[in-house]
Amino acid sequence: MQRIGKWNWEEKEEVTSTNDEAEALSQRVKDGEYVVTAIRQTQGRGRRGRSWIGYEGNLFMSFLQKIKPSQIGEIVFIVSLSLFESLKDIFPNINIKLKWPNDILVENNKISGILLEKGAGDYLIIGIGVNLVGAPKLEGVLYPATSLQEKGYEVDRRILLRKYIEIYDKNYEKWQAEGFKSIRDKWLKNVKGLGEEIEVHMEKENKRGIFADIDETGALILEQGNKKEKIYAGDIFYIDKHR
Ligand code: BTN
Repeated sequence: MQRIGKWNWEEKEEVTSTNDEAEALSQRVKDGEYVVTAIRQTQGRGRRGRSWIGYEGNLFMSFLQKIKPSQIGEIVFIVSLSLFESLKDIFPNINIKLKWPNDILVENNKISGILLEKGAGDYLIIGIGVNLVGAPKLEGVLYPATSLQEKGYEVDRRILLRKYIEIYDKNYEKWQAEGFKSIRDKWLKNVKGLGEEIEVHMEKENKRGIFADIDETGALILEQGNKKEKIYAGDIFYIDKHR
């Protein structure tokens, strides 16, 4: 194992999923923070039961950190904001936005995903995938995925890994010291669609309304007339007025 700051870093050649490796690691260790990366991922997982295709050259990383269950809702925002800020730091002119709950869009196309899973004991597994060189082109998808390379931005995955860790650690400390508000404010400043009409696709139904806010736990607040509703999980679609 190598070290990056306080993190114990293990790089694997090929894995099913870096989240699987992190889960196995959480069974063996008692303390400390770990990050597992892999060059190839053969059975990557996405949110809501989807798969995550593992092109070699993309970044696959899973962090193992002790997080209280009550703070999981907030950590998603620290993770996505930190990834957003890392990309901005490396490419100051990049046109990127956050997408609720935890995606990053480059010129309206998804380039990253975050999957939180429970590890052994108090460990949380924070799995992050970034499309650096490749992205699946699926038919009929409204907001197709892209890669940074396709958009003209090249970065080595180890450089992004180190930058992400530096920024995440800073944001994490700020959150511990000052609470969620400072993170939430920065996140809201960079999110796509705030104050606009969106459609949220949930497990059993779809709902339309105005993306009014996120609450102190990270739930999306959807405004329909004078009714406000909290949405805890789903995919959002922007209503393009120019279509
Ligand atoms: C999403 O659906 O947007 C979340 C995708 C998460 C992908 C990453 S890649 C590293 C880690 N290992 C996995 O199997 N999934 C996450």
